Amino acid sequence: MDHGKANQAPEILLSRYQIEQRVGELGAEITRDYHGRAPHLVGILKGAWVFMADLVRHIDIDVTVDFLGITSYGSGTKSSGEVKITKDLDVSIENREVLIVEDILDTGRTLKYLQQVLSAHKPRSVRVVTLLDKRSRRIVPVRADYVGFEIADVFVVGYGLDFDQKYRELPDIHVLRPVVQPQPTDS
Ligand code: PRP
Repeated sequence: MDHGKANQAPEILLSRYQIEQRVGELGAEITRDYHGRAPHLVGILKGAWVFMADLVRHIDIDVTVDFLGITSYGSGTKSSGEVKITKDLDVSIENREVLIVEDILDTGRTLKYLQQVLSAHKPRSVRVVTLLDKRSRRIVPVRADYVGFEIADVFVVGYGLDFDQKYRELPDIHVLRPVVQPQPTDS
């Protein structure tokens, strides 16, 4: 399916200004909740890297950061929850207050997998912050502790999110609609 280019059909779902304000609010909430607890933020690559970079600058307590790289097995099994780790954690999370940082929560399969994998390393706690939540798409009953925006079931790109590895660099979040080819008519 050809989704076209985001900059040819720039329907903005969430502007950079809306995002900035909401990320600031999330940072303030996390600052309050984790006072005296130095959370260890684990960003999930690749999509969460832009959000994570902005979020840490709105958290006004000591934090440490790490990244976990994951990819779905094969293009046809996206969102199957069967993922391959492409970059492991650099430091132990044992006894740490882990905060998973995701760009989007969709079926919930990836998060379920992540919670299982990270919990096996005996952290003190594991919580989740996601910028976007497509709650209507949930298959596995997981929830995030902090949600930036609940969105409808539309394909979004920008601010770290991609289509076929493109558009991650866009400052706003766009809806990417399939390009509908005109059909020949019988006449
Ligand atoms: C996205 C997102 C989550 C996952 C959520 O990653 O970052 O990890 O999908 O989907 P789910 O709830 O249906 O499991 P994606 O596979 O697009 O990879 P990317 O972060 O490298 O873009």
